[in-house]
Amino acid sequence: MKDVQRVAIVDPSDSTREPLRNLLLGVESVWLEAECSRYEFFTDVARQSNPDLVVIALDTDHNKALQLIAQLGAECPGLPILAVSARGDGQSILQALRAGAKEFLTQPVVLEELLTCLQRLRSSRGSVDGMMVNGTAKVESQVVSIIGSRGGVGCTSLAVNLGCNLAHQDKNHNVALIDLDLALGDADVALDLIPDYTLADVALNIDRLDMTFLRRSLCKHATGLSLLPHPVQMEDIALIHEDHLQRVINLLRASYTHLIFDLSKRFTPTDLTAMRMSDVILLVAQLELTSLRNVVRMLHTLGTEDGLGEKVRIVVNRVGSEDGEISLKKAEETVGRPIYWQIPNDYKAMLGARNAGVPLLEHAPRSKAQLALLDLASALCGKGPQEQKKERRGFFSFR
Ligand SMILES: Nc1ncnc2c1ncn2[C@@H]1O[C@H](COP(=O)(O)OP(=O)(O)OP(=O)(O)O)[C@@H](O)[C@H]1O
Ligand SMILES: [Mg+2]
Repeated sequence: MKDVQRVAIVDPSDSTREPLRNLLLGVESVWLEAECSRYEFFTDVARQSNPDLVVIALDTDHNKALQLIAQLGAECPGLPILAVSARGDGQSILQALRAGAKEFLTQPVVLEELLTCLQRLRSSRGSVDGMMVNGTAKVESQVVSIIGSRGGVGCTSLAVNLGCNLAHQDKNHNVALIDLDLALGDADVALDLIPDYTLADVALNIDRLDMTFLRRSLCKHATGLSLLPHPVQMEDIALIHEDHLQRVINLLRASYTHLIFDLSKRFTPTDLTAMRMSDVILLVAQLELTSLRNVVRMLHTLGTEDGLGEKVRIVVNRVGSEDGEISLKKAEETVGRPIYWQIPNDYKAMLGARNAGVPLLEHAPRSKAQLALLDLASALCGKGPQEQKKERRGFFSFR
C-alpha cells in the first residue's frame, strides 16, 4: 500500500464538490479527512483535521476563496494548497498561485492530472519535511512485460507465478497482472479465476474511468495478485486501443507497486505500447533453435527503437529438458547477451499447477521451478535470493 495523503476539501457548490470528492475517494493513496461547504469555516476545519493537503474550489466566490488561500498560508505555513477552478486562464491561475496555492487544476478535474499533482505535492512535502514514509523511501511502481520467443515457451506460467510470488512475499506489494494476450490469453484459467470484468469493459468505459471502477475491474487471487483479464469475446479485442492501454497503465501505476503484462507473440500495437511503458522486458526463450533465432530477431527489432532494447533481459525456461538442448554458453553466444535468469524444466510441478488452476507456491512450494521464480521475483525487487540452498548455487545465475 502506498503512503496515504490526508486531504481536506472545501467547495460550497454540491455540483462540483461531489465529482471531485468521488475522484479523490477513488485514489487509493488519498484519505478524505474533511469536507466543507463554507469558505468561512474552512480554516477551523483545516486546523482541527490537520490534513497533508487542502483542495480549495474557487468558482463559487473567487474573492472569498483567494482570501481563504492567503489566510491558510499565514495560519498553516507549509500546508500545500491545491486550487481548482473552471477558469483555467493565465490570470486566474496567477491569482491563485500569488495568493499562496501550490498547484492549480482546471475543473472538471482529470484523474491523471490529479494523480500527477498529488504526486508532486507529496514529493515536495516529503523533501520539505525531509522524511521518508514508514521508514522507507517511496518506491515507484515497477512495470514488467513478459514476451515469448515462440508459442508455448512459458510466458503465462512465468507471468502468473511471478505475480503470485511478488504479491505473496511482501505485504507492502500490490501486484496486478494484465493479460495482454488479447485473443488467446489464459492467465484467468491458470489462476482459476472467473472474472466479472475484462479489459473490454475498461475500454468501453475509458472516458469515465476512475480508480474505483478500474480497481473493481480487477479480480483478486488468494495470493493477493490482482488480474485484469483479456476480453471474453474475440470481437471485443478491437475495442482495446493503444491509448486506452496507456491510460489504464498510467492509472494502475498510481495504485500498484508492480504491474506484469503477459503479452501476445504477435508484436501487436498493444504489445509495443506495453513494452514502451515497461521498466523491464523479460524475453522468454528455450534452448532450441527456433526460439533462439527469434530472440535474435526480436532483439534486433527492439534495438531499433530508442530505449527498448536496453530493457530486455533474457530468461531461459525449461533448462535441463532433454529434447535437443543447446548449451547455455552457446545460447549466450548466439543471442549476444547474457542469460539473465534460468527456470529449470519441472514438468510435473508446472503441469500439475496449471491443471489444478493454482500457482506453484501453493501446488509445489519446494519445486525447482517455484524456487527459481521466487528468486526471480526477489531479484526484480533488487533483493537477494529467498531460499539460498547450497546445491542450487552455481546452477542459477544471479546477474
Ligand atoms: N519450467 C517449465 N517446466 C516444465 N513445463 C513448463 C515450464 N514452463 C512452462 N511449462 C509448460 O509449458 C506449457 C506452455 O506454457 P505457457 O502456457 O506458460 O506458455 P506460453 O508462452 O504462455 O504459451 P502461449 O504461446 O500459448 O501463450 C504449459 O503446459 C506449461 O505447464
Ligand atoms: Mg500464454
